[in-house]
Amino acid sequence: MKKTTAAITAVGGYVPDFVLSNKVLETMVDTNDEWITTRTGIKERRILKEENAGTSFMAIKAAEDLLQKRGIDASEIDFVLVATATPDLPVASTAAYVASEIGAVNAFAYDLQAACSSFLYGMSTAASYIESGRYKKVLVIGADKMSSIIDYTDRTTCIIFGDGAGAALFEPNEEGLGLQDEYLRSDGIGRQFLKIDAGGSILPASEETVKNKQHYVYQDGKSVFKFAVSNMADVSALIMERNNLTHEDVQWLVPHQANKRIIDATANRMGVEPGKVMINIDRYGNTTSATLPLLLYDYEKQLKKGDNLIFAAFGGGFTWGSIYLKWAYNS
Ligand code: UT7
Repeated sequence: MKKTTAAITAVGGYVPDFVLSNKVLETMVDTNDEWITTRTGIKERRILKEENAGTSFMAIKAAEDLLQKRGIDASEIDFVLVATATPDLPVASTAAYVASEIGAVNAFAYDLQAACSSFLYGMSTAASYIESGRYKKVLVIGADKMSSIIDYTDRTTCIIFGDGAGAALFEPNEEGLGLQDEYLRSDGIGRQFLKIDAGGSILPASEETVKNKQHYVYQDGKSVFKFAVSNMADVSALIMERNNLTHEDVQWLVPHQANKRIIDATANRMGVEPGKVMINIDRYGNTTSATLPLLLYDYEKQLKKGDNLIFAAFGGGFTWGSIYLKWAYNS
């Protein structure tokens, strides 16, 4: 009997209209376009300005875009996973709300939080459900409203992050396309370098935590950079070796977009030329869970059935990993 694999059969995306450029950031904090461009590769990022709109606002738009393109009704979806570090509410599942709003009335839903690796881990979760044979249509949405947890007076973080959402539908495939292999890792040593101190169970919100700005992202950028640059390259090289892939066999590298220098180092280590590396950091910055699906959304028209894609991500926790996937359709 042929093995059932889990293929991506449609993608969708959404970014807010409001553009926050490096030039505008120059007027907000002590920074400049040249520093941001050379140190990170970012030129601008999108910010969600709609009142009372959280991460679900963007997740719903990305999902609706996908459903319309795939031409299916939301009631056919079995499972909705929302990968996010910025849920609408600390407790109620964002995914459950999104599923109801898009009309996925027959689905169950939950959130997955693994910082910038959330979507990568979500791909693995989706593939496992499909491969098990129990579910036929799994919708994975990566969405983050990073602007809700960023201190726009802190130049070390506010230049990096942006808001957005992307979605991918996973379905069974009998041609051997879709997810081929994965290598996922984590290491709790990373918690000290990239975190939000307050608002969790260790340090609940109080007047003091608000006054001390402890509800914003703190990042020791230099340390995170060191871990990210070596680990993202390591796992990408490992997954190629383990699947006997040379750089000629790889059509696309789909890397998390935290810093253009980390992306370049990963591509170099894999021997993959720049033209095969998906990039949107210049336009969106680091959109955390939305980065990988937004890349697929942006590059969808260039992807061909059978293309070999290597996904790689690194994020807070630390969490990181790589996935080898064969693209399943021509658009
Ligand atoms: O997605 C989750 C995982 N996150 C990552 O992978 C992020 C990894 N880290 C990075 O991408 C980089 O470390 C940053 C982009 C965050 C920072 O770049 P860096 O090259 O590591 O800069 P740095 O922190 O070593 O700072 C260099 C200098 C410092 O000044 P001095 O001490 O040399 O005088 C900073 O104060 O640049 C200064 N600086 C800035 N200058 C202008 C820091 N931020 C800024 C800024 N504008 N926005």
